[in-house]
Amino acid sequence: MNLQVVGQSCLRPDAPEKLTGRAKYIDDLTFAGMLHCVVVRSPYAKAKILSIDCTAARAMPGVWAVATWKDIPGNNFVALVKNDLPLLAQDSVEYAAQAVALVAAETKQQAQAAAEKVVVEYEQEQPILGIDEGIEKGWVLCKYQLFEGDVDKAFADPTLQIFEKTYYTPLQEHAYLETNGIIAVPDNRGGLIVYGSMQCPFYVQKGVAYALGVDFQRVRVVQTTTGGGFGGKEDAPSTPGAMASVMAWITKRPVKLVLSRGEDMACMTKRHPSKIVYRSAVTKDGIIKAVDIKHYVDGGAFLTLSSIVLWRGLIHSTGPYNIENVRVLSYAIGTNTPPNGAFRGFGQPQVVFAAEAHWDEVASRLGMAPLEFRNKNVLSCGMRTATGQILTESVGLQEVADKALAAAGYHEFMKQPRSQGRYRRGMGVSYSHYGVGLGANGGPFNNAGANVIIAADGSVSIGVGTVEMGQGMTTVLIQIAAETLRCDTSRIYLVDPDTAQVPESGPTVASRTTLMCGNAVYKACKELRERLDEFDNGRNLEWKALIGQCWVAGVQLSVQGWAVAPKCTFDEATGKGDVYCIYTWCVNVADVTVDTLTGEVTVNRFISGNDVGKVVNPSLAEGQAQGGALQGLGYALVEQGVLKEGRLLSNSLSTYILPTAMDTPEIVPVFAEHEYSWGPYGAKGFGETPLVPVAPAVINAIADATGVRINTLPATPERVWQALRDLEQK
Ligand code: MTE
Ligand code: MOS
Repeated sequence: MNLQVVGQSCLRPDAPEKLTGRAKYIDDLTFAGMLHCVVVRSPYAKAKILSIDCTAARAMPGVWAVATWKDIPGNNFVALVKNDLPLLAQDSVEYAAQAVALVAAETKQQAQAAAEKVVVEYEQEQPILGIDEGIEKGWVLCKYQLFEGDVDKAFADPTLQIFEKTYYTPLQEHAYLETNGIIAVPDNRGGLIVYGSMQCPFYVQKGVAYALGVDFQRVRVVQTTTGGGFGGKEDAPSTPGAMASVMAWITKRPVKLVLSRGEDMACMTKRHPSKIVYRSAVTKDGIIKAVDIKHYVDGGAFLTLSSIVLWRGLIHSTGPYNIENVRVLSYAIGTNTPPNGAFRGFGQPQVVFAAEAHWDEVASRLGMAPLEFRNKNVLSCGMRTATGQILTESVGLQEVADKALAAAGYHEFMKQPRSQGRYRRGMGVSYSHYGVGLGANGGPFNNAGANVIIAADGSVSIGVGTVEMGQGMTTVLIQIAAETLRCDTSRIYLVDPDTAQVPESGPTVASRTTLMCGNAVYKACKELRERLDEFDNGRNLEWKALIGQCWVAGVQLSVQGWAVAPKCTFDEATGKGDVYCIYTWCVNVADVTVDTLTGEVTVNRFISGNDVGKVVNPSLAEGQAQGGALQGLGYALVEQGVLKEGRLLSNSLSTYILPTAMDTPEIVPVFAEHEYSWGPYGAKGFGETPLVPVAPAVINAIADATGVRINTLPATPERVWQALRDLEQK
């Protein structure tokens, strides 16, 4: 196909406002008569609530309302999967920083002062802390399983070699630039307009409607310019959304709730810590015969979104390999810590780390090169995944591998001897696949709508239910629309997502936007273009003139596009099914130098190889690869949320260590474009994928350089140093 706009690096329309600082984020907005909300939170990880006394707080200056669970007009829960998280604690608190009461006052300072006067009597109890204790106490929030073949028989086969390792991964903070924030404003129709920084306006609408006990459409949610989400604004904003709304409902005034950085870090969702026990049975010449995986993620004190995160982990835990016998038992474990939630990769970085670190070690113990081992087992088009799904198209892994390895200079480097001095250089590889969208677990959220309206002058407005959070959705959707309508990108405008104006389109997660919303926009624009072509009747009128004539003639210049994802299946008992409609494929190569004196790891270069189908906007895709890789390098080497007695110690950007520009190596994105027949112009989707395989590539590079294998992330200097000393002692 001869494409004009799709495949070009068009500039982002949101860039000028953001770069100049003119863009208005939620905390920049104000409304007449607006009150400020402050949340009273539990200091304990687990306690009974004996009493809550708000008398003194209510008497404080500037205070309009103080609310406990008793004052919630509708339901006291945050509507998510099982509605198990209370909006405000009732008889007990199950994690430190859990919300107990809300204060709304004229200024933030007054609200803060009054919050300190809320007297809560607690009786402390023994919390369950850490994933191992959660497993030991048997606190299971939910579980999934996947069975294929006969695992026990394979492990009993004396001709096979058996390997077993346990892997741990830490809590990771999203560190979006903008903290969570909401403003709820009473409107003139007896409802609320809820503005905020978020990924899923329809989740917030549902959350607010349940908390107030009103119709969904009495609540109108409008997303404001959002300073990053990375999954941290998927399920999370429903909570501040419902809180601000409850206070606006009670006081009949606009209410703003913007979390401070420390509060946001202490109480909002993070990446689930995990423990993964990976066992495998392999032939002497490197064919994987069986895996037996126990996969645990730490969900925190409530289920919230853990079932969804756990499911993606289950499906991807065997990696992009052909394995005859599979047993995976996946559990979301409860602990008395804040609920963990969505984070770029959605349960995949944990299992992909375990799998790819495991296979690298198995290869080396068999005396095989890491690539030789992988290539003997890797999936290709026509083969079956562990869930029994046949890969029918768009499997670009091999091409990605060739390009990524060439970009890294991998083959030449592998021929060289390794240094034995203080500084040792090594390279590591990782492979992964990624199911695009929500798959069989997405239910009603596997649809998306788009309203496309052409004005009389030929300018175009597009409304969608998914959001721009920095990933580039606006640009990509405008490109798809421009290509399909055959109209200039400069004449197309995307409006802020507004639940009153577009149909429920599911969440902006799971890298589903280009595929799902892109298809909805494509369908609407295609229908419009066909209408225009029919009217044009071969005259080849220029865009503006054509629209002008259509307008005068009363041709309908608006269409709603609706995309329904191809059907996916999943059997709860066996874990089998055609679980995702399409997969993207990644190969990462890390080139590192380890300082064996200090344990410090420097990444010299990093290659992020990706088959994402058609690349709609090359420079945005490169940006995603680079940002995702850097977030993955943080996960591999430095980032870890540290808790003490269930309270987050690393609750500021000075104590939670993140990679900065100074730590950023050269990150080289490479792409293969194995187009997807159902994707808009062949695109599959990208946003989350580039983070997923980063950590194991780094860990495998450390092993290549030094021989030590780090099985607990992150590979801090202390850990690497200790592992080097342990190796010397052997
Ligand atoms: N990129 C930026 N700049 N900011 C973000 O918040 N979120 C990531 C990814 N890339 C994010 C980002 C996550 S978690 C997802 S699911 C995808 O973008 C969502 O975008 P997509 O559906 O348009 O791929
Ligand atoms: Mo991304 S974690 O699916 O929002």
